[in-house]
Amino acid sequence: MDKVVIVMPTYKEKDNIERMITELFEKEFPKIRNVSMHLLVVNDLPSDGGPDDGTGDIVKKYAKKFDNLHIIEDKKQGLGWAYVRGMKYAMERLHADAVMEMDADFQHPPRFVAPMVAAYLDGADYAIGSRYIKGGSVPKEWAMHRKAVSFFGNLFIRIALVKPKIHDLTTGFRLTRVKGVLDKIKLNELMELSRFAYKVDLLYQSIKNSKKVVEVPLEFAPRTEEVSKFSMQEMVSTFKVAIILGIKDKQRFIKYGAVGLIGYAINAVGLEVFYRLGFSTGVAAAIGAEFAIVSNFILNNFWTFKEEKITSLAKVVSKFVQFNLSSVGAVVIQAIVVAVGTGIFGVGTRQIMLIIAVGFFVIPYNYAMYNLFIWKTWKVPALEKIQKLLG
Ligand code: GDD
Ligand code: MN
Repeated sequence: MDKVVIVMPTYKEKDNIERMITELFEKEFPKIRNVSMHLLVVNDLPSDGGPDDGTGDIVKKYAKKFDNLHIIEDKKQGLGWAYVRGMKYAMERLHADAVMEMDADFQHPPRFVAPMVAAYLDGADYAIGSRYIKGGSVPKEWAMHRKAVSFFGNLFIRIALVKPKIHDLTTGFRLTRVKGVLDKIKLNELMELSRFAYKVDLLYQSIKNSKKVVEVPLEFAPRTEEVSKFSMQEMVSTFKVAIILGIKDKQRFIKYGAVGLIGYAINAVGLEVFYRLGFSTGVAAAIGAEFAIVSNFILNNFWTFKEEKITSLAKVVSKFVQFNLSSVGAVVIQAIVVAVGTGIFGVGTRQIMLIIAVGFFVIPYNYAMYNLFIWKTWKVPALEKIQKLLG
């Protein structure tokens, strides 16, 4: 049976934690079949050694009653660090198959745990409790400006990260599969771990590692007790993370473009050199093209796709063969576009057609082939079998 661990950070939540524990263990967990549900409270104590409100004592009392209730405590270092400690504990000590992020203050109503787990059992690698899809909502009580900040903040991150299909990127209610997703993430290295903004980095990496991402409706409730710890500073740091990730995300494409330009230069020089050495233009062009392919392969492997670098000799050979075949595809595509284009608009448009062919067809085609089949950075369930087959 799979084990799902809810990691719940708490900082001065004595007014919420007791009811949260009893609701989860007595009302919600019994409803969930085929999964062993655990709750791990990551309680932080004031960093200045000041008085603690007793949240930890309440949890410890209940941990005697419920076997699946765990607690770890430390001095407060911020929300991200609390999650890092909790997620590591859940993976390494509790051997979780999936980890959930959840607040203790009932803004994530416990009744939404079951549908998240159901999504996981249905094959989701990453389930996002979403306020901005049908069935989800933000509190009616929220003032207009609060709603606007949340909505436009989300929209901004969505655009910066180019994630049009995900509607809620800042939600704190999520479920992540451990194997292949969470266990691949270097948690210690997430950005802005002392703040809420680490959530955006974690989301970005989790989506990257996931084959199946689903959004599950969440009715975000108003906070019942005390005040929220979210602030203007938190928002600024969230935007900062989104912008950095957004640029990083495009960096790969920029590097790919640079490699392509270098390849073009090598191709041109090769054509010239081998033609002058006495080869026919066709042969000289082919040799130049192959040199460019070799350069593209090496530079992309060690630079553009350095995180996915292919190193073993056998794999380099087989991937290089695939790379060549994929390049043949590009040549064919280019020939077809130019032939069809000039067929329609006349031979006079051949240079324009070449630009169209390269710009709109070859560049995206190659980029997709590299990401899908050569370095396999894009996870597409429908292509999973082929991706595996290609090694
Ligand atoms: N251990 C620990 N350490 N827990 C913390 C810390 C910390 O430094 N800071 C906050 N928490 C706990 C709180 O006790 C609560 O259980 C949870 O983290 C969320 O804190 P809130 O202060 O209630 O956050 P919020 O309601 O403003 O923010 C919510 O919405 C954000 C944006 O929509 C959260 O769900 C965020 O995760 C979410 O990003
Ligand atoms: Mn809250």
